[in-house]
Amino acid sequence: MESIHLPPLPRRVLYAFGSALLLTFVLLRSLAPESSTFRVAHRGWAPAGDLLRDIRNSTLGFEHIFVVGLPSRSDRRDNIVLQAALSDIQVEFIDGVLGQDIPDKAIPTSPDHKRPADPVLGCWRGHMNAVREIVRRNLTSALILEDDVDWDVRIRDQLQDFALSIRALTQPLLRGDAGGYADPTYPMPSDNSPESVPDMDFYQLPATVPPSTYPYGDNWDLLWVGHCGMHFPFKGSKTIPKGRVIRHNDVTVAPKKSLWTFNIPFTLKETYPEHTRAYHHVQEGVCSLGYALSQRGARKLLHEVGLKDVNAGYDLLLRWFCEGVKGRRPGRQCLTTQPALFHHHRMAGPESHMSDIGNHPNKFRHKAMTDMVRWSVRLNADVLMEGRTDFVDQYPD
Ligand SMILES: *[C@@H]1O[C@H](CO)[C@@H](O)[C@H](O)[C@H]1NC(C)=O
Ligand SMILES: *[C@@H]1O[C@H](CO)[C@@H](O)[C@H](O)[C@H]1NC(C)=O
Repeated sequence: MESIHLPPLPRRVLYAFGSALLLTFVLLRSLAPESSTFRVAHRGWAPAGDLLRDIRNSTLGFEHIFVVGLPSRSDRRDNIVLQAALSDIQVEFIDGVLGQDIPDKAIPTSPDHKRPADPVLGCWRGHMNAVREIVRRNLTSALILEDDVDWDVRIRDQLQDFALSIRALTQPLLRGDAGGYADPTYPMPSDNSPESVPDMDFYQLPATVPPSTYPYGDNWDLLWVGHCGMHFPFKGSKTIPKGRVIRHNDVTVAPKKSLWTFNIPFTLKETYPEHTRAYHHVQEGVCSLGYALSQRGARKLLHEVGLKDVNAGYDLLLRWFCEGVKGRRPGRQCLTTQPALFHHHRMAGPESHMSDIGNHPNKFRHKAMTDMVRWSVRLNADVLMEGRTDFVDQYPD
């Protein structure tokens, strides 16, 4: 092939080109991750040999998954079994208990209140049976779900992000010449701790010591992943670390108009942009829809909530356990994310079927729905079974 001779470029053009190239290089360098930060290349990515990969296994990186519910609710068990199969997840049922079947003698109590209502007792006991099983079998960790929950088709990606964020909040810094943590108020605020700490950016998390036992970090008691309301740690809270990891542009987060909570003010919605997800320590969690326990966490929970005064609904007891108040010891490491990852599914049918605990008005729900979950596994059962990927988004923008 004949070579093409171009006329020599004027020197000025060469200079301009050279400096543009240099500028681009400098810019790219400054955008590239520092060696001290751990950058998440894309969802589902994990370095070789990292326990993070185990989150993709059939028990979502825990040793076991329990589902608590009354055996008589065969409809719910059918649903959970199908949903778990479609997500390649293994579950084991723990029989829920009817409050009226629990004798007074079996309920730890104090003289200052009456026997709690049967539905409250039944819920407490069903969950405690699962917690006791974790301790009895010496499981390293387990996820406990209620039997009416649903999750996103992308649950494993969401849990991997959760794990990375918890590590940033609770694992020692890798660089830590001072041996410290990224959150200066971890593991417990001291008298001179700041009332709040700067947000950590999910895309620029500090490098921390890789955990040796759990994909989710080695230093947690309870991961509250299914709830219907959470607060960010209160400024004045003396027992709860204040760190937050903030992830912008999470495509699994429903638009603000579809987000709701029992916890007012709804700071996540009011202060952060659309599609923001937050990770932080538990403050005032509501609803015990789903939570994981480490073995040490299960032992503490059996001690603090199984064997001490049962004087409130189970989610309130969980909250007190996490916050170390109302006679429960402080110092528990309970972490969470907003919005939650496991939510209530509401089947089509009479609304009175929704719960065996509360009384729902006599209305009929014509369309099944799941709170806040975009690509609901239940509502995409057909899509999943047909091997398609055109998932139904319950909450499009
Ligand atoms: C999944 O990973 C966790 C964490 O490493 C492990 O404890 C569990 O046994 C694994 N589950 C299965 C089914 O391999
Ligand atoms: C429970 O498991 C731990 C390791 O995970 C082990 O060191 C301990 O001996 C076990 N305890 C019992 C009672 O099996």
